[in-house]
Amino acid sequence: PMEKIPEGFDLYFYEGRWYPSIFFHGIISFQQHFKAQDADLILITFPKSGTTWLKALAFTIENRKNYPFSESPLLTTNPHDLILFLEDEIYGKNPILKLEDLPSPRVLATHMPHSALPTSMKESNCRVVYMCRNPLDVFISFRHFAITLSNTPFDPSLIEECFDMFCRGVSIYGPFWDHVLEYWKASRERPDKVLFLKYEDMKEDPISHCKVLAKFMGLPFSVEEESQGVIEEVLKLCSFDNLKDLEVNKNEKNRNGHPYSMFFRKGEVGDWANFLTPSMLERMNKLMEEKFAGSGLNFKFS
Ligand code: A3P
Repeated sequence: PMEKIPEGFDLYFYEGRWYPSIFFHGIISFQQHFKAQDADLILITFPKSGTTWLKALAFTIENRKNYPFSESPLLTTNPHDLILFLEDEIYGKNPILKLEDLPSPRVLATHMPHSALPTSMKESNCRVVYMCRNPLDVFISFRHFAITLSNTPFDPSLIEECFDMFCRGVSIYGPFWDHVLEYWKASRERPDKVLFLKYEDMKEDPISHCKVLAKFMGLPFSVEEESQGVIEEVLKLCSFDNLKDLEVNKNEKNRNGHPYSMFFRKGEVGDWANFLTPSMLERMNKLMEEKFAGSGLNFKFS
């Protein structure tokens, strides 16, 4: 079966999930061929949940001894070109890099649902950092992303139809709740292997979460680093305000001709309230109550 997002994205339904048709070849190839290594770090997100931020943070934490912050590659390179997407840039139709060419430990990214991960990832001790975000902000963020990608103007009249699709689970890598719930459960079962982060928590208390992330990566901040303000520097370098104003992210385009600025829109919690009605909020609240019942998982909407 197939569905179409109004801006022209085709979605394929495969093993209970909706995948963007443009990545489908890469998704299957990644699923079948990826051989995880114990030292791998894989960043996983539901699309529009803070992937760009997480990539910037993980890259900076990993490389903080390799460059002074004033010479970080992040200042001239978009985070997505520093940590590549497995199903697109490595296993896609036009790969830009072979896995063998990556230095160890490999840091890679994907949007794949947990149940669809390659077997080798489940069997190895590779680490997964999962980041998610409240579904209403995810939905609105994707609406804006879709119009940028398809070069169409923002059309508020499409919101209702698209919201209905999202609530029926039809969204890229959806259903949303299956995605988050599977990683939530995996993180409860194997906290040493799966770190579960929420965009809203990161925004509220970035210092603590940055520490948790570095520790999970096996690169905790030392007492000296903490007293020298290294965590604050990492956060400043990776902040929305800093990244969005860099020449590369402001004025340059990626290899597909899309502006890097599309990854930096508002960077806030609660922007959905400018677009969605109270009855939409009510529908989402009911859905979440039903889907997350008994799991202990919840999201803040503001
Ligand atoms: P908004 O559209 O709500 O502004 P992803 O990186 O997964 O595609 O998610 C994109 C969302 O993260 C966008 O949300 C974007 O503005 C926000 N974002 C990008 N960089 C960020 C950063 N450094 N800190 C916080 N949010 C960021």
